Amino acid sequence: MDGSGSGWARSWHSHASGCRVRVMRLPALPDFEPGWVWLVGAGPGAPGLLALLALKALAEADAVVYDALVDERSLALARPGAILEFAGKRGGKPSPRQPDISRRLIRHARDGRRVLRLKGGDPFVFGRGGEEALALVAAGVPFRVVPGLTAGIGGLAYAGIPATHRDVNEAVTFITGHNVSGEVPDGLDWPALARGAPVLVFYMALKHLPQIRDRLIAAGRPAGDAAAVVSNAATERQLTLVTTLGRLVEDAEAARAEPPAIVVVGPAVRMAAGLDWLGAMAGRRLDPDPLMLKTRREAG
Ligand SMILES: C[S@@+](CC[C@H](N)C(=O)[O-])C[C@H]1O[C@@H](n2cnc3c(N)ncnc32)[C@H](O)[C@@H]1O
Repeated sequence: MDGSGSGWARSWHSHASGCRVRVMRLPALPDFEPGWVWLVGAGPGAPGLLALLALKALAEADAVVYDALVDERSLALARPGAILEFAGKRGGKPSPRQPDISRRLIRHARDGRRVLRLKGGDPFVFGRGGEEALALVAAGVPFRVVPGLTAGIGGLAYAGIPATHRDVNEAVTFITGHNVSGEVPDGLDWPALARGAPVLVFYMALKHLPQIRDRLIAAGRPAGDAAAVVSNAATERQLTLVTTLGRLVEDAEAARAEPPAIVVVGPAVRMAAGLDWLGAMAGRRLDPDPLMLKTRREAG
C-alpha cells in the first residue's frame, strides 16, 4: 500500500493471470456535521455528474432543500427518511422568496439538522449561492460550498461543444440573459461582447432571444456566426439546435426549444460536427476535421 502524500491511497493487486490492477481508495471525505449547511451544486441533469461530496451530502443530509433544476434521479439518492423541501420556481405558480429560503436553511440548521441546499449546476454561477451563504454568515450558521458542474460547461459538453478549443477561442464569456428585474441586462457592454468575446455562453436567455440577437448583430457580430441552443442538457429530453446567430430566434421557435437552455454563439459551436458524442451513440457520423483546418492545409 502506498499512502503517497497526494491523499489518495493506492495499492497494487497481482492476479493469477499475471496482470496487475491498481486500486484507488478515496481519501477521507469531510464530515457532514449536524447544524451545518452544505451549499451543493448538482450539475446539469444526469446524476452521474454529481461530485463525490454531493453524493455524500445526499446520503447523510437530514434535510434537503432543492431547486427546480435538480434532477429527480439525483434527489432519489437522498437518505431514506430525509426531509425533502422544494424551493424552486414552478411554471406560473408563486415561487418562494429568497429571504424565506434562507430562513428555512437557518431554521433547519438551528434545529440541529445536517442541511443540504441542493442547486442545479454550480451554486455560485447565476445560482444565488452567494446570497444564501451571506445570509448564513449573518446568522452565524457554519456552511461549506460544494461546487457543481455548471450548465454552460457541462451542458455544452453534452452537445459536443467545448467551452474552449485551442483552434477556436482563448476566452469564453458567461452572460445572464436576464437581470434581477427579468430584463435583458443593460449594464453589459454589448459592442465589447460582440467584438471582443469569441465565445458567448448565455444562461436564461430564451425569453429575450430576439433582443439578444438584435443587440449582438447591431453591435457588430456577424449574423452568419455559428450559434446553438442546448435545452434540458444532460437529461433524456436534451435538445440540441445548431444554427446561426441570424436564424437563432426562428430556429429555436421551430424546434420548440424550452427552458432550461444554454445559448452559445461563436465558432466553438462548429466543433459539434466532430464532437457530438451523444449524437454518435445514436448513429451520427462525426467529422474529424470540423473546422476544415486539415482540408484547407492540404488544399493550400
Ligand atoms: C438560475 S440559472 C442556474 C445556473 C446554474 N447555477 C448552473 O451553474 O448551471 C438557470 C439557467 O441555467 C441553465 N441551465 C441549468 N440547467 C440546465 C440544463 N440541464 N440544460 C440547459 N441549461 C441549463 C439555463 O440557462 C437556465 O435558465
